[in-house]
Amino acid sequence: MHVLVAGGTGYIGSVLCPLLVEKGHKVTVLDRMYFGNPFTKTPEITAVRGDVRSFDPAILRGVEAVVDVSGISNDPSCELEPELTKGVNVDGGKRLARYAKEAGVRRYVYSSSCSVYGHGEGMGLTETSGRHPVSLYARAKAEMEDVLFGELKSASFEVTALRLATVFGLAPRMRFDLAVNVMTKNAYVNRRITVDGGGRQWRPFVHVRDVADAFALAMVSDAKLVNGEVFNVGSTNNNVQILNLAFRVRDAIPGTEVVHAPTDPDLRDYNVNFDKIQRVLDYSTKRTIDDGIKEILEALKDGRLDPDDRRWYTLKQYLFLREAERVHAEMALEGRLLSS
Ligand SMILES: NC(=O)c1ccc[n+]([C@@H]2O[C@H](COP(=O)([O-])OP(=O)(O)OC[C@H]3O[C@@H](n4cnc5c(N)ncnc54)[C@H](O)[C@@H]3O)[C@@H](O)[C@H]2O)c1
Repeated sequence: MHVLVAGGTGYIGSVLCPLLVEKGHKVTVLDRMYFGNPFTKTPEITAVRGDVRSFDPAILRGVEAVVDVSGISNDPSCELEPELTKGVNVDGGKRLARYAKEAGVRRYVYSSSCSVYGHGEGMGLTETSGRHPVSLYARAKAEMEDVLFGELKSASFEVTALRLATVFGLAPRMRFDLAVNVMTKNAYVNRRITVDGGGRQWRPFVHVRDVADAFALAMVSDAKLVNGEVFNVGSTNNNVQILNLAFRVRDAIPGTEVVHAPTDPDLRDYNVNFDKIQRVLDYSTKRTIDDGIKEILEALKDGRLDPDDRRWYTLKQYLFLREAERVHAEMALEGRLLSS
């Protein structure tokens, strides 16, 4: 199958695209490549630098499936410039889906998030539980779901939304702004983990490779099972309270101290049920939180992972790009800053 992966050079995309190639698919990536391009030495993957807000729809010619893992991907980066977030995560997302439908793409898999549950009411939230998004990021996800299952709904355009748990694990584009990853990095580098707001808040987690498996599966599953459907992606026993997560990381890295900060800027608190994807698609996760901690730790120890690389900190990288754009607009002569 010819697949277009929007956001394919990002954290999830950088694991998903090689998996799709392994499964025999032809892969084209459309991405601004804000965090670099891990596929410069992967000729099987055609990586095109482009923007969901302005790409040439000709890129969709011959494409049979689209996976959308693009966008500004965490709360603080989305809060930086709300208009920009709306432009990318909502208007750009809609634009991609509309052009895909027009181009005759059959299957469309969208990366939604369990954060649409927000401050979840009760334990074991299912796909039919109420959505209570508490951030701009999560509201954009909910809005995209509404568009995909509302105005774009059709029998010939098969749409699935995967509501991902918080992802962890090692990837070519690393993210140190996700709970398991950042705690492991902080424990290794500083021997110290900070837990915000008491740590009783629940959060579900899922390994990045298990997420890639879920996208690959949703892409080829029978339309009767997936068209118009939402699936939570994760596993019920990977719902963890943040304090408990900190203790697990501390146990893996001896000498680590767990300290408390009184408030948590992140208001999310939800415990999610993942039975539907298991029942309908026979999907189950294969990696545990402890597997993720271990592989990140090993990569830090043997130098494969640089904890100081700015690109692995989503907000820091977006702040850097914003500043670079400002300086360029103010000082560039014929497109150049220093060279003549
Ligand atoms: N990682 C998680 O825990 C998690 C959980 C739930 C949902 N999601 C969603 O999954 C998707 C992928 O997340 P990720 O962790 O890989 O994030 P990421 O930030 O690593 O990847 C997003 C990619 O989108 C690209 N991008 C940003 N703006 C773009 C634009 N205007 N046009 C084209 N490309 C653009 C970036 O360059 C980046 O490569 C996101 O939509 C995210 O919201 C992630």
